Amino acid sequence: MSTLESILKETRSFPPSDEFRRKATVSGMEAYNTLCEEADDHYLSFWGDLAREMISWKKPFSRVFDDSNAPFFKWFDDGVLNVSHNCIDRHLPLNANKIALIFEADGGEVTRLTYAELYHRVCQFANGLKSLGIQKGDRVVIYMPMVVEAIVAMQACARIGAIHSVVFGGFSAGAVRDRIQDAGAVAVITANEGLRGGKTVPLKATVDEALALEGCDSVKNVIVYQRTNGGAHWVEGRDIWWHKLTEGQSEHCEPEWMNAEDPLFILYTSGSTGKPKGIQHSSAGYLLGAANSFRWVFDYKPNDVFWCTADVGWITGHSYVCYGPLANGATQVIFEGVPTYPDASRFWSMIEKHKVTTFYTAPTAIRSLIKLGADLPKQYDLSSLRLLGTVGEPINPEAWMWYYEVVGGGRCPIVDTWWQTETGSAMIAPLPGAVATKPGSCTLPLPGVIADIVDESGAPVEPGRGGFLVIKKPFPSLVRTIWGDADRFKKTYFPEEFNGQYYLAGDSANRDENGYFWIMGRIDDVLNVSGHRLGTMEIESALVANPLVAEAAVVGKPHDVKGEAVVAFVVLKGNRPEGDDAKKIATELKNWVAHEIGKIAQPDDIRFGENLPKTRSGKIMRRLLRSIAKGEEISQDVSTLENPHILSQLQQGV
Ligand code: WT7
Repeated sequence: MSTLESILKETRSFPPSDEFRRKATVSGMEAYNTLCEEADDHYLSFWGDLAREMISWKKPFSRVFDDSNAPFFKWFDDGVLNVSHNCIDRHLPLNANKIALIFEADGGEVTRLTYAELYHRVCQFANGLKSLGIQKGDRVVIYMPMVVEAIVAMQACARIGAIHSVVFGGFSAGAVRDRIQDAGAVAVITANEGLRGGKTVPLKATVDEALALEGCDSVKNVIVYQRTNGGAHWVEGRDIWWHKLTEGQSEHCEPEWMNAEDPLFILYTSGSTGKPKGIQHSSAGYLLGAANSFRWVFDYKPNDVFWCTADVGWITGHSYVCYGPLANGATQVIFEGVPTYPDASRFWSMIEKHKVTTFYTAPTAIRSLIKLGADLPKQYDLSSLRLLGTVGEPINPEAWMWYYEVVGGGRCPIVDTWWQTETGSAMIAPLPGAVATKPGSCTLPLPGVIADIVDESGAPVEPGRGGFLVIKKPFPSLVRTIWGDADRFKKTYFPEEFNGQYYLAGDSANRDENGYFWIMGRIDDVLNVSGHRLGTMEIESALVANPLVAEAAVVGKPHDVKGEAVVAFVVLKGNRPEGDDAKKIATELKNWVAHEIGKIAQPDDIRFGENLPKTRSGKIMRRLLRSIAKGEEISQDVSTLENPHILSQLQQGV
């Protein structure tokens, strides 16, 4: 519990300035408390009113909530809408010429797109998809660089009712194949190559490699956006260029009218088993969560220039790039590249250039930019900023203070937003014109989010005590099911231990005497590397799939930039390697994991043993491995260990 203690020493508190509070959408604690009370007292009409206010319905819903098949909840389920219509068409009467997207390419070229232009592009592409026979309910995998077309592709799927599943462009062929297969995708949308940090990323080649693997027969077409002059291997009849597909297509496309509960997308995320979970989100409930939280948490104003640096391959890039900002008619920056290219001032120069008002990024990016140039922001005019945000992992108070003072000039509230792929939208985060912030805390739940911290029996714990973070009432943007695995959904998120009543987030947390939430970490075998979830089992399965490997166990160790780094303990089929041999095999295995899953899962550290530390009943002693990975003195009881001599082997680095 050392993290708990050290974090609770943090007593600094930063209320919004009077000026910020006065202009805020939710202004002052009284307004926040009133909303919370409304939600507490009239939970369903609270959400029903918001759904009528935030969403434009083709046919209004008559019922807010249906729990007759709990935990498979339904919201607004006889309502009819289209998400893309809500994100684009409804802004056209008043704001057709407002800039929707400011795109900055890796090399620095800037393109601007109005809502009218976005509408035409989405419609043309949607018509293109229809011309291939893609229909409502079909699954489409999107494997794209962070360019305007990625958003066009997602919006076009939403427009025709196809269910998109975006796969992060850094994932490898194996990961792409698994997702295509699990979703039964009929098409893949990709680019010939991506551009990041001055280098090309071979996206189409990776898709080709994935489709050459077994089990991808569902895919009929691959649509290829030409991002670079680089060529692409071509399969006639299957592959089609984006520009050919859209050529001559109408710039109008009647939206497919969808039921509120029709799935909008599937997004895969890691869990504690080897198989990623296809998180299935609804149309209306998800849209409501994304749109309303965007308005509240980012205190959205029509003149804002919003910039969320997340890739569309993650949930953050869904809710706060593709859906939330567009549903509000916002202007936002889209960035193709990386924060360190051409140098570590890229973010700051872009904030200055585009006069960004609201900037949302990950603690890992903040930490790496502090390392590479803590003084760089001072060389830029960042006075356009009025609000900052973080997401993905707890932010350490030092990084928070730097972000607050050096980037925000001591003027901008920081919204530390706790949420997950499964929750679809921010759950615990300060409403910046009301809630005072504290460095390292995500503060208080949004109105309508009934969060608590409980012990094994489901009873709330006292302030300052750690426990399981749960959400006690279903809410509109919550995951509906795991694609193709309803049973796993139920067991993972609504476990019997809590009588199936609470949504179990999988995080441990505590609350301080003011009711503020402090996230402590995951309770399952999930690592958080650079703000992204990686299942230890998934990496272990990848390692064991290598012909040299007999057994592997993966744990995390603290890393000052990435938050957590991957450490793998490996037993080879042959002898335990030493010296140069060990180095060579370690490199080989690191590359193997990068190839099997993606670079993000690559172990920083591989240790070889003749065996793994196991109890007499054969259980791998993970807590012990975590201590070894951190280089700690071993204080655990090792008397039950079958083979104590291997500990010294595993303590040796390669
Ligand atoms: C897990 C969810 C939500 C989009 C990005 C990650 C951790 C997320 C915070 C935060 C502390 C956080 C949790 C959570 N997490 N935000 N503000 N403070 N921890 O989405 O991949 O679904 O991961 O990220 O552990 O469960 P994800």
